[in-house]
Amino acid sequence: MITYRHSSQDITPDQLRGFFEGWPNPPTPETHLRLLEGSDEVVIAIDEDTGAVVGFITAITDRVLSAYIPFLEVLPEYRGRGIGSELVRRMLDRLDGLYMVDLLCDKQLIAFYERFGMRGATGAMLRNYKYQAGPRGSDRGGATG
Ligand SMILES: CC(C)(COP(=O)(O)OP(=O)(O)OC[C@H]1O[C@@H](n2cnc3c(N)ncnc32)[C@H](O)[C@@H]1OP(=O)(O)O)[C@@H](O)C(=O)NCCC(=O)NCCS
Repeated sequence: MITYRHSSQDITPDQLRGFFEGWPNPPTPETHLRLLEGSDEVVIAIDEDTGAVVGFITAITDRVLSAYIPFLEVLPEYRGRGIGSELVRRMLDRLDGLYMVDLLCDKQLIAFYERFGMRGATGAMLRNYKYQAGPRGSDRGGATG
């Protein structure tokens, strides 16, 4: 059975295996956990049979007008059974009342997000690939030093 949590409390790095599919330099599970802890909103899907996290979505918000959704991912073997949709629905519920909710995605995924009332838009982005695994590629608490 898949259950959903709205907090990263009690999640351990061991539960966070297999994410960031296709990233050449993925964050470690420890860095992934920090990312969840540092987000303003999270929804986490857990396979109660194994205890593993099988999907997650995060949001950063000013809680006044805007929110941004940087991450949505479901483990490959759990895709196509509605988990991604449930994560988006739950996150949009949590962000309800805000003027703008934005995310960046590949063109072919726009139709997926349109199911939830979102629409395609143009955007711009910056990627510092040397920090893809985390600040300065480490598990330290910040990009200092
Ligand atoms: C996108 C993603 C989260 C969807 O998760 P999921 O649990 O499979 O989603 P659901 O089962 O709720 O819905 C799947 C639907 O989305 C569509 N979809 C998923 N990925 C898609 C893609 N890359 N392009 C087009 N459609 C896609 C499927 O065709 C499916 O449609 P259907 O319901 O008509 O069969 C998952 O494919 C994933 O983790 N992908 C890799 C990471 C990613 O691209 N994240 C989004 C970043 S913006």
